[in-house]
Amino acid sequence: MRNGGFCVFILFVSCVFATPTKLGGLLSPPRADYGKCHSVNLNDRLDCFPEKNANQRDCEARGCCWMAANSDLGDQPSIPYCFFQPKAQSYIFRDIKEVSNGIEATLERSYKSHYPRDVEVIKLIATYHSDDTLQIKVIDPSNQRYETFFPEVDLPPPSTTNPLYKFIIADDKQGFKVLRKSDNTAVFDASDLSNFIYSDQFLQITTKLPSENIYGLGEQRKRLKLSSEWSELTLFNHDAAPMAHVNIYGTHPFYLLIEKSANAHGVFLKNSNAMDLILQPTPSLTYRTIGGILDFYIFLGPTPSDVLKQYQNVIGKPKMPPYWSLGFHLCRWGIDSLENTKQVLKRNLDAGIPVEVQWNDLDYMDNQNIFTYNKNKFNGLPEFVKDLHNQGRRYVILIDPGLSGSEAPGTSLPYDRGLELDVFVKNSSGNVFIGKVWNPISTVFPDFTHPNAYVYWKEMLKKFHDIVPFDGAWIDMNEPSNNEFPFGCPQSDLESPPYFPNIDGQYLRTKTFSMTAQQHKGVHYNVHNLFGISEANITSRAMSEILNERSFIISRSTFAGYGRYGGHWGGDVFSTWDELRYSIPHLLDFSLFGVPLMGSDICGFNDNSNEDLCNRWMQLGAFYPFSRNHNSINLRDQDPAAMGSQVIRSSIKALNIRYSLLPYLYTLFWQAHKDGLTVARPLMVEFPEDANTYDIDTSFLWGSALLIAPVLENDPQSISVYLPKGVWYNYYTLEALQSGGQSFDVKTDKDTIPLFLRGGYVIPTGSAAKTTKEVRESPLKLIVSPDELGRANGVYYNDDGVSVDVGTKYTLLEFNACNGKLDITISHGNNSLQSLSALILGVEEDITSVKVDNTYHQNFVYNKNAKTLLIEDLQIKSESTIIRWH
Ligand SMILES: *[C@@H]1O[C@H](CO)[C@@H](O)[C@H](O)[C@H]1NC(C)=O
Ligand SMILES: *[C@@H]1O[C@H](CO)[C@@H](O)[C@H](O)[C@H]1NC(C)=O
Ligand SMILES: *[C@@H]1O[C@H](CO)[C@@H](O)[C@H](O)[C@H]1NC(C)=O
Repeated sequence: MRNGGFCVFILFVSCVFATPTKLGGLLSPPRADYGKCHSVNLNDRLDCFPEKNANQRDCEARGCCWMAANSDLGDQPSIPYCFFQPKAQSYIFRDIKEVSNGIEATLERSYKSHYPRDVEVIKLIATYHSDDTLQIKVIDPSNQRYETFFPEVDLPPPSTTNPLYKFIIADDKQGFKVLRKSDNTAVFDASDLSNFIYSDQFLQITTKLPSENIYGLGEQRKRLKLSSEWSELTLFNHDAAPMAHVNIYGTHPFYLLIEKSANAHGVFLKNSNAMDLILQPTPSLTYRTIGGILDFYIFLGPTPSDVLKQYQNVIGKPKMPPYWSLGFHLCRWGIDSLENTKQVLKRNLDAGIPVEVQWNDLDYMDNQNIFTYNKNKFNGLPEFVKDLHNQGRRYVILIDPGLSGSEAPGTSLPYDRGLELDVFVKNSSGNVFIGKVWNPISTVFPDFTHPNAYVYWKEMLKKFHDIVPFDGAWIDMNEPSNNEFPFGCPQSDLESPPYFPNIDGQYLRTKTFSMTAQQHKGVHYNVHNLFGISEANITSRAMSEILNERSFIISRSTFAGYGRYGGHWGGDVFSTWDELRYSIPHLLDFSLFGVPLMGSDICGFNDNSNEDLCNRWMQLGAFYPFSRNHNSINLRDQDPAAMGSQVIRSSIKALNIRYSLLPYLYTLFWQAHKDGLTVARPLMVEFPEDANTYDIDTSFLWGSALLIAPVLENDPQSISVYLPKGVWYNYYTLEALQSGGQSFDVKTDKDTIPLFLRGGYVIPTGSAAKTTKEVRESPLKLIVSPDELGRANGVYYNDDGVSVDVGTKYTLLEFNACNGKLDITISHGNNSLQSLSALILGVEEDITSVKVDNTYHQNFVYNKNAKTLLIEDLQIKSESTIIRWH
C-alpha cells in the first residue's frame, strides 16, 4: 500500500494503491503440469486457494494443482486440495549485483497471480549488517509502498568481518536461501518461489524450516513450542480474551528456531499489516500479509540467547523498570469507591500481604471519561494517593485512549485541546472519526502518530497528574478497541481486501476502527497494529518527564519493539486451571519478544475464581516478573485477603520469597536492559543442547539460576519436575540433587511452590520486607550454589531504583566462587555498602575456619545436616575481597 494517510476527498483506489502503469502486461498463469503436481507430498502442499470454497475450475485458473488429499488423512481439512506446482516460476531473478555489504537484484513476475495489482518488477536487497545479522528487503522500486515506522531503532552502518551466513540465489534463478556457513543448514530457505506473490494487498512467501523446534510468533494463547501440524496463526491486534486460535492484543512476527545441531537462529518480519502465518509439517512457514513490504531480519545466533540479543539490537532493548514496579500490585474492576479501595488495601495489609502498588480501574473516572475522577465516589482521591506515597507505596490508574466526543465546547479540556491541536484520528472524509467505547455518547481517539500528539498527551497527563499524583499508567483498549460506527463505514478495498486473513471477527474493522480511518502516518489498514505502541512510546516518555523518574506503563496492545516503553499483562484471561497453565507460555513468549515485564492477572480476570485455583495462582504469580492480582466487575472478590487463610498463607510465603529475591530480579532486568538477556527464561533458551527442554512450558527460569516449577492442578501429591543435567538445590531444604537430565517427583503441599537453585551461580538476595524500598536497602545476603566442580558466579546491580539515566550512578558487584573461596569485586560504584552475608550450599566437609582477605573471621556457622555455611558480617572493601573457608 502506498502511504495513503494524506489523501482526503479522493477516491481511495487512486490514492492508496500503486499506480497501475504496468497492469495488463502480465499473462494468465499457464496450466499446472500434473506430472509435477504428483511429485508433491501431502505435507509439502502449499495452499493455492486460502480463500473459502475452493473448486477445481477456480484452482486450475490460478495455474495450480487440484488433487484430493489422501483419504486416510481426510480428517485433516487443512491439507489443501489446491496447491502450487513446484518451480512454478512466479518471479525470476534478473540483474544480480554485488554491492558493498550485500546483494541487490531485481525479480520479474512471469504471469499474473490471482490477486489484483501484482508488482511486476520487484527489487530484493540483501544487507549484511554484521557477522550474525542480515536483512532481506523486498520493495517495489517504482512506487514507495507503506513501511512500518516501528520499531524505531537505527542500526549502525553495515560491517562484517567473517559472516556466519551465505546468501545464495538458486542456479535456476527461481529462489534464494541463507545458509549457516559452518554446517550448511538453510536458516531461510525460499529456494522455490513457486507460491511467492507480491501484489498490492497480498504478499506471500514460504521458507522451509530446518527443524520443528520453532517458538515465538504472537500474540496468541498457545504452547511455547509451536505446532507444525498445519497450524495457522493470525496476527492482528484485537480486543478478545485469550483463547486458542484467536488473534489477540499484540503483533510480534518473530520466531526463534533450534536447529538439529542445537544451533539457533531467528527471523523477524518487519511488517505491520494483518497477516496469517501457516506452519505445516514439511516443516515450513508461510507468511501471508495484506500490505506493506517484505522486510526480513535473520539472526544467526548461534545460541538462543545470542539470537534474542541480536533481535533486540534491531528492535530495541527493554526498558529498565522502576524498582517499585517489581513489588506486588493489587487491582480490580468494580472497586467502585475510594472507601472500598481503602478497605481492600487495608484488609490485605492487615493480613500481611506486602502490597506495593494500589490500582484503580475505570471505576475512578467521572462518567468513564479519562483525565477526570468521580468527585463523589472517589472524593479525597488526591489525598489518598499522597498518603500512599508517605507509606512508601504507589498508585497506578487505568487510562484509555478514547475520550468523550460529545462534550459542549469549553467544558472538556481533553476534547477542546485535541480539536485545537488537530490530533484526533480522522475518518475517510477528513472529519474526526467517531466511535464508541466507554464514554456515555461517543468516543474520539488521539492519533498517536500525529506530530502534535506528544504535546497534547503530555499536557493532559500533566494536568491530571497535578490533581491526582499517580505513579504509572495502565494503557488499555489500545488495539484500538471500538464498538460502534455511528456514521457507518465506506465501501473500500481496505475494508474488503482481496484476501481476508483468518481474524476473529467478520470484518477487519470488527471491534476496532474503520480500515479507511486516517492517521498522520497512514490509513488505519496499515497502521492498525501500531496504535498501542505509538501510544506507549508517547505515554512512557511523557510520564518520565512529568515524574522526572523512570516511568512505568503497562500496555495491552503491543508490537515488535514495545519492550523499550513498558510492560504487558496477559489481558482478559479466564479464571480456570487451563489459563493458569497457559499463562506460562504467554509470559515466555513475551520474553522472546523482548518484553520481560509481563504477567497475567493473578487468580484470573473473567469469571469467578476460587480458593484452590487462586492459591496456586498467587504462588505462580509471585514469580511473574509483573505480579498483579486483578479481576473483572460483578465477580466475587479475589484479592488474597478475601480468599481465606490458605490463600493468605501461601501468598505471604510466595511473596516473601519474591521480595527477598528482588535484588536478583532487579539485576536480571538490568541485564535485559543492557544486553537483551531474558528475565523469565524458557528452559530451551538456557539448555539448547538438551532436547528434553524443547517442549517444556510448565516450568521456567529466572535468569540462569532459579527454576520455578509451579503446581498447576488442584492438590496433587507430587509433581514431576525436569531438571537439566547438573547440580540443583531444593530452595527450601537446600538439599543438593544431582541430575543426569531427568524428571524428579517433587512432593508438594498446599503452601509451597517448588523452586530450585542451579549449581554454578551466586544470587544476591535481601530481606523479605513489606515494601520494595526496605528490600532494596536491606543488607545483602548471597546464596552461593556451587556446581559439581565447586564453582559459582554471579553479579549484583543496584541503583536508586527510579532515576531515568540508568547506568550512571550504580553499584555493581561480581562474585566468583571456587572450591572454598569466594571473591567479591566491586566493579562499579563505591564501597559505602553495608556489611553482607553469604550462605554457601553443598559444603560437604566440616568448616573450622574462615578468613576474610587474610584475617580470621569469627562470624560463621556450619550446618552439618543441611551442608551449608553461613558467613555473616562481611565488610566489603573497594576492589576485591577474598573469603576462604576450610
Ligand atoms: C465522517 O464523519 C462525519 C461526521 O463527523 C460524517 O458526517 C461523515 O459521514 C463521515 N464520513 C465517513 C466516510 O465516514
Ligand atoms: C516516539 O515519541 C517521540 C516523542 O514524541 C517521537 O519523537 C518519535 O517520533 C516517536 N516514535 C515513533 C516511531 O513514532
Ligand atoms: C557513594 O557513596 C556516597 C555516600 O554514601 C553516595 O552519596 C554516592 O551516591 C555513592 N556513589 C555511587 C556511585 O554509588
